[in-house]
Amino acid sequence: MIIRPRRLRRTRAIRDMVRETGLSVKDFIAPLFVKPGQDVRDPIPSMPGQVHFSVDTIVKEAGELWDLGIPSIILFGLPDRKDATGSRSWAADGVVQQAISAIKAKFPELVVMTDVCLCEYTDHGHCGVISSGAVDNDATLELLARQAVSHARAGADFVAPSDMMDGRVAAIRAALDQEGFQDTGILSYAVKYASAFYGPFRDAADSAPQFGNRAGYQMDPANALEALKEALLDMDEGADMIMVKPAIPYLDIIWRVREMTLLPLAAYNVSGEYAMVKAAAIRGWIDGERVMMEMLTSIKRAGADLILTYFAREAAKKLMLDT
Ligand code: PBG
Repeated sequence: MIIRPRRLRRTRAIRDMVRETGLSVKDFIAPLFVKPGQDVRDPIPSMPGQVHFSVDTIVKEAGELWDLGIPSIILFGLPDRKDATGSRSWAADGVVQQAISAIKAKFPELVVMTDVCLCEYTDHGHCGVISSGAVDNDATLELLARQAVSHARAGADFVAPSDMMDGRVAAIRAALDQEGFQDTGILSYAVKYASAFYGPFRDAADSAPQFGNRAGYQMDPANALEALKEALLDMDEGADMIMVKPAIPYLDIIWRVREMTLLPLAAYNVSGEYAMVKAAAIRGWIDGERVMMEMLTSIKRAGADLILTYFAREAAKKLMLDT
């Protein structure tokens, strides 16, 4: 007797019935870049389809994403000026803070997250303050906490520390609680690798380190047990959700973290993953739409509950057409 798995693939309706992994617009968190100015929609060359917004245009974009059913966005800021400590990152009138309050005023239910890190705000491009030529972990914690509190004060629902300093989730949680922001959540970039896939983002956010690299704080791509350790630490320190980043080259890590955490798990489908698909699709070498859906489904199948992805808008539209 031949066992015939193909019986379950015979028609589209049957395939729909036995599909194991569902992809929903509710899984998406859309990353958006905001910078000073008015009526700005500057294309980001290394990320076709993505733009830099100003506060007025990002509000419009947020509304469109919400109308598509996307429940959440994560904001990245390009400040008006940079300095050694990244002080514009916690300014009450900073561009991210302005964007948060403008978006929440218009779309109060949209879940607004913010990236908490110093690299976009420091003139040296590192994710923390420098002393004796290296990133000073403990001195950085207080600045990250300030930034997180300023985002919470502006109305952010979740802050998402991406700096990879030790102890930052605990420091941010304590500062939020002390300032009365018990309800502001933390989505921790718990497992963040020192990845070459962030290249297009660093162009977009003008955040490439001016000397050295991030290997002294981000994780070695060769390590998996260390990912579990990082996840455990952030769970212990009070993260509400944790993240693995990047996504596609680290599906095994998503799977392993999924198996050991009770928290919602996010994965960041990063700029390089997006840019590669776009570049090949523009040349006609791949079917960009199908590759997009296959990648996003694979990230879900690996165990992620939520996906931060530049494809959010496009994939939401595609999901709408398919149902
Ligand atoms: C900030 C930060 C980075 C990304 C998210 N937050 C860049 C980095 O660590 O250099 C990358 C996102 C992407 O590539 O899409 N530290």
